[in-house]
Amino acid sequence: MKRAAYLLLALLPLHAAAWEQPVSGYAYLPEQVQAMQDDPIENPGMFAVDEGRALFNTPGYNGKSCASCHGTDGMKLEPQSLARYPVYSAARKGPLTLQQRINDCRENRLDEFPLPYDDADLVRLETFVRHRARGAKVNVDVSGPLRPWYEAGKVLYHTRIGQLDMACTHCHDRYVDLRLRDQVLNQGHSNAFPAHRLLSGDISSLHGKFRDCYATLRALPFEVGSDEFISLEVYLNARGNGLAIETPGIRR
Ligand code: HEC
Ligand code: HEC
Repeated sequence: MKRAAYLLLALLPLHAAAWEQPVSGYAYLPEQVQAMQDDPIENPGMFAVDEGRALFNTPGYNGKSCASCHGTDGMKLEPQSLARYPVYSAARKGPLTLQQRINDCRENRLDEFPLPYDDADLVRLETFVRHRARGAKVNVDVSGPLRPWYEAGKVLYHTRIGQLDMACTHCHDRYVDLRLRDQVLNQGHSNAFPAHRLLSGDISSLHGKFRDCYATLRALPFEVGSDEFISLEVYLNARGNGLAIETPGIRR
């Protein structure tokens, strides 16, 4: 995208949020990509789901597997319950993302070393687990103790960053539906993630996508798994409450 195009965006007069109901990025995909996402045989993100499933069913250090407690292929995991993440954790005195929940189980219930945030295996496990909740409506409760994290994420989302001096809200609230080069700006929701990226040909975590949008703005990104990105995740997920989980979605 040309710098001039961004400058033009930054100069456009501000008006109120362009949308009232959340609309998934799916609606902005070309028809053939929508069809690819909908078809489990054609969807390339299903490779990551299958790899995650294999990890899920593989015994860890103590001989147990995720499946020992959560059923073969995670049949005992509740889609509606998975759709609530991030949830508040009293032990952490803060949010617990789905990925952290999985890593905690891996460490405490399989006696494995915890994996670094966004480790490839962890993202595959997350993709598999979240795929179990495909179709469930995102339902993050930020009315209670998660509220400060939601507010912190909201501030980040509205803060201008980087050499382009733009905030997330510029592209994903105000200028939604505008065409930038060959892409139409969507509302920047998280319901497709982890998602298969056509450009990289690989699965991408939500925090990976954040880093990407920071790079677009020529801004120094936060670390994956940082408090900043976790609060952005709390904010974005809650902002998309009611959207159906699409994992693995397909995006550019
Ligand atoms: C020894 C049994 C056991 C094993 C093995 C285990 N878990 Fe868990 N898991 C639990 C229990 C018990 C809970 C819920 C209690 C809690 O919140 O700590 C849970 C909670 C979860 C949740 C949250 C479910 C929800 O609805 O909130 C996920 C996701 C999960 N585990 C994934 C995994 C994955 C992935 C693995 C393998 C890496 C795994 N678990 C291994 C016992 C286990
Ligand atoms: C200059 C415009 C611009 C800004 C500012 C911007 N993004 Fe994006 N973002 C995009 C474009 C273009 C896409 C669509 C690319 C695609 O199809 O995946 C996107 C996609 C996304 C998506 C995936 C949505 C989906 O369903 O495909 C998320 C999440 C996201 N952005 C988060 C952010 C966050 C968080 C910020 C602020 C740090 C931000 N974006 C700032 C241009 C922007």
